[in-house]
Amino acid sequence: MTGKKIDGLEVAKSVKERVRKSVEELKKQGLEPCLATILVGDNAASATYVRNKHKACQEVGIITKDHNPSKSISQNELNELIDSLNNDRNVHGILVQLPLPDQLDEFVTISRISPIKDVDGLTPHNMGLLSMRKAILKACTPSGIMEMFDYYDIELEGKTIVIINRSNLIGKPLYHMLLEKNATVITCHSKTKNIKEICKNADIVVSGVGDRTKFVLTPDMIKDGAVVIDVAISRIDGKLTGDADYEKIIEKVSYATPVPGGVGPMTVSMLLRNTVTAASLSKGFGN
Ligand SMILES: NC(=O)c1ccc[n+]([C@@H]2O[C@H](COP(=O)([O-])OP(=O)(O)OC[C@H]3O[C@@H](n4cnc5c(N)ncnc54)[C@H](OP(=O)(O)O)[C@@H]3O)[C@@H](O)[C@H]2O)c1
Repeated sequence: MTGKKIDGLEVAKSVKERVRKSVEELKKQGLEPCLATILVGDNAASATYVRNKHKACQEVGIITKDHNPSKSISQNELNELIDSLNNDRNVHGILVQLPLPDQLDEFVTISRISPIKDVDGLTPHNMGLLSMRKAILKACTPSGIMEMFDYYDIELEGKTIVIINRSNLIGKPLYHMLLEKNATVITCHSKTKNIKEICKNADIVVSGVGDRTKFVLTPDMIKDGAVVIDVAISRIDGKLTGDADYEKIIEKVSYATPVPGGVGPMTVSMLLRNTVTAASLSKGFGN
């Protein structure tokens, strides 16, 4: 069996088109959606991610404000910057690019963001709401994966879904999103025993390890006709790859995501969607 490619670029394009229309509508009502980003220091990879997010915002008409404090900024100073953006009526979304330098606490920093401006969906408030099926702003990468299932009409109800990742960014929010769709969800991690046997029973495997020296998702771990979503990004000999070799996995499955061109483009498009949602919310909160 040769499966179909889940084309993240195509799905992301359709999301962006919808976001662009929503931005136009909001502008007609006098609201200009604005995303403020905070990039601490000069980490080259982080700078590239932030630049790409700004570019994507511009494509759909979202205004961006760039903050680039020095890498020696203190926690208090960073908190003050976040507070000023929380209080800025013209800013609707706040994104702090991770990772942060050692003197800064990720949890303290993310928790400082106002939940209604939390376009990454990572504050304790919004993560808690997600577990109670009440979240409006949800984590971008798992939301992007859910959007892909929807676009390709991949049934989730009653399916056994294995997630190999338990991070706050991916595995934990995705677990709740899938549970809400009535899937049976199993989370695996570095201490899980018999991952191969667990995966072999799964209808869908979402893999997000990102270190091929520790883990590779091989075709013998996958049931015939299953769906594979490869979230991981690794670099081998300068070439981007995921946890799986796409060319080998696609022979065994009904659908699979490539790397690059799979989940990656979805993450940014969900950030755009969350920013428009946050801008709409700001009206309801009288901001
Ligand atoms: N496509 C995108 O848009 C996108 C967005 C975000 C991240 N990513 C990529 O996704 C990957 C994961 O990101 P992350 O932030 O979630 O990283 P992370 O926090 O390091 O999570 C990695 C997960 O893999 C698990 N793991 C490690 N070794 C394992 C093994 N041998 N067997 C099974 N599980 C193992 C870890 O388990 P423990 O919890 O036990 O350590 C952890 O849950 C990275 O490659 C990252 O670049 C992609």
